[in-house]
Amino acid sequence: MGPDEFSFLARLLRRRCGLSLTPDKKALTTRRLAPVMHRFDFKNMASLIGELRLGREALADAVTEAMTVNESSFFRDAAMFRTLRETVLPRLAAARRGDKRLRIWSAACAAGQEAYSIAILLSEMGLAREGWNIDLIATDLSGEAIARAEAGRYASCEIERGLDPHAMRYFRRERSEWLVDASLRRMVTFKRFNLLDSFGWLDEMDLVFCRNVLMYFDTATRLDVLDRIADTMVPDGLLLLGENETPGRAGFAPSAEGPGFYAKSRATILRLG
Ligand SMILES: C[S@@+](CC[C@H](N)C(=O)[O-])C[C@H]1O[C@@H](n2cnc3c(N)ncnc32)[C@H](O)[C@@H]1O
Repeated sequence: MGPDEFSFLARLLRRRCGLSLTPDKKALTTRRLAPVMHRFDFKNMASLIGELRLGREALADAVTEAMTVNESSFFRDAAMFRTLRETVLPRLAAARRGDKRLRIWSAACAAGQEAYSIAILLSEMGLAREGWNIDLIATDLSGEAIARAEAGRYASCEIERGLDPHAMRYFRRERSEWLVDASLRRMVTFKRFNLLDSFGWLDEMDLVFCRNVLMYFDTATRLDVLDRIADTMVPDGLLLLGENETPGRAGFAPSAEGPGFYAKSRATILRLG
């Protein structure tokens, strides 16, 4: 892939999904796109890019899909999930006892491990049995990841990463795979959604998980996404980021709950009224 072709691809991916692709990622990009090249029957990368330049939507979709990193696991970052279980969720439930309503968004949910981990915690709290109205929305750019999440089927190696024996009662073995219990699947609404698109349909979020995705964006895109996430949240809502992520200059401040938890800053709350 020549420099012109690479920079065309980088611009296309930035526009379509916010991915920030630097020239040192050329070899990685070529490796990731090899299956797309074969699937669409191109002889080399130059002809694939030539076709992209003609605006072939299905090809651009496949290229975008191939470049997403869907790596995830159940209860990824155990300390954060412990804090959620032991302090954040009980406190939130106490604060919302009046209207018995909770809204949670897993904003880049990959194949659903994060959303099902949250669903397990909520299920253990027994809120649904007490008549709570819980919206657990899980979105991702990748159609393949969302299809896997909806199916709720995982390989043994995925189950072994992060799930303790106690949580295995939410999974049933089917041949070589594990199927998520229907009670958990009913709790989550999965939807294909690009974080670059309007968040108009998302509001009054108590918790927003936006973990291990912002690191693929450039600074301007990261700030824009975070500021718009703040708009979707209630004043005392919390944002959860990945272990090595921070909100930078966006309108959030570290929360006393612990590492990875962020509250809307005072200035943001005043700005949003
Ligand atoms: C590394 S996974 C993180 C999954 C999960 N949040 C976690 O922390 O384990 C990153 C996910 O972000 C998704 N993604 C990348 N760009 C996106 C965008 N513009 N809009 C929505 N999701 C995006 C990818 O498809 C991928 O599933």
